[in-house]
Amino acid sequence: MPTIPLKYSLYHLPGKIPMAEKSKILIIGGTGYIGKFIVEASAKSSHPTFALVRESTVSDPAKAKLIDSFKSSGVTLLHGDLNDYESLVKAIKQVDVVISAVGSLQILDQTKIIAAIKEVGHIKRFLPSEFGNDVDRTHAVEPAKTAFAFKAQIRRAIEAEGIPHTIVSSNYFAGYFLPTLAQPGLFAPPRDKVIIPGDGNPKAVFNEEHDIGTYTIKAVDDPRTLNKIVYIKPPKNIYSFNELVSLWEKKIGKTLERIHVPEDEVLKQIQESPIPFNVIFAINHSVFVKGDQTYFVIEPSFGVEASELYPDVKYTTVEEYLDQFV
Ligand SMILES: NC(=O)c1ccc[n+]([C@@H]2O[C@H](COP(=O)([O-])OP(=O)(O)OC[C@H]3O[C@@H](n4cnc5c(N)ncnc54)[C@H](OP(=O)(O)O)[C@@H]3O)[C@@H](O)[C@H]2O)c1
Repeated sequence: MPTIPLKYSLYHLPGKIPMAEKSKILIIGGTGYIGKFIVEASAKSSHPTFALVRESTVSDPAKAKLIDSFKSSGVTLLHGDLNDYESLVKAIKQVDVVISAVGSLQILDQTKIIAAIKEVGHIKRFLPSEFGNDVDRTHAVEPAKTAFAFKAQIRRAIEAEGIPHTIVSSNYFAGYFLPTLAQPGLFAPPRDKVIIPGDGNPKAVFNEEHDIGTYTIKAVDDPRTLNKIVYIKPPKNIYSFNELVSLWEKKIGKTLERIHVPEDEVLKQIQESPIPFNVIFAINHSVFVKGDQTYFVIEPSFGVEASELYPDVKYTTVEEYLDQFV
């Protein structure tokens, strides 16, 4: 067999994206809960990675370890702020792809990112801050309804501007729900009784955060995800509440008392709870009572499923995730 000169073997094999040509990615909100996993995945997969960071955050002792880890992974830190338009333009000029992972209070501020992307002109892909339910296919009640509507408003603004985009619908972050089996006030999964909103039969999806980062970064240069919703719905992470409890019971070798809360009581609890519990309960209602993460079929016209697109990713299953709490 003829030997391939090193430079060709690395950069010019058909079907491989040459390392040097990997998209430059800017993450806005990279110091947040999910953002840090996206930054890590981007740097790990050798994308030139940039993080827009507020100056106050760089000097915040609570974030020092994270900022150091960004630096040691080769991430370029760019000082900026959603409220400083010029800083957005300056940062976006340096990259090909923009990922926003800003928090739920900053969703509408993303219109400033959209304006800056429009001004810069060359951005190949924008991924707005979504990372949850598909907000165009929801039965959520207030206050989740309005929170989802804000994300939908950002989708419409991106479409109206003709910006190439990808929406990542990551469903539930495992770390938010599995460590307590969605039991408010607990710090570990329950061992005697469990409260289940509704009949516990609609299916939900729980994804480990590193996997969400990995799938997100895989999607950025993929033509199959252009202007599509990427649903992270790997088959082994889809469970109804009842199935989740049964899995946990099997692991601890004990049967829990199951207390089902009828929907009208769930709705009353949402109305009577203060912020942010009302938001959390309303999202749980949408997922566990209405089945909003799984009630619809992903049609090729609007979406693709991440584990089907990237079967090489060895994702953490719910079953594996729960092992750490046994
Ligand atoms: N699926 C789920 O289970 C689930 C759960 C929670 C959230 N989510 C969704 O995930 C997305 C990200 O939420 P998160 O909870 O990860 O966010 P988060 O932890 O609140 O982080 C927000 C990020 O935005 C940055 N930020 C805030 N204000 C900014 C400003 N003015 N300029 C620049 N950056 C600013 C923060 O920077 P600093 O570090 O400087 O503050 C931080 O990096 C949201 O769309 C949210 O709805 C999904």
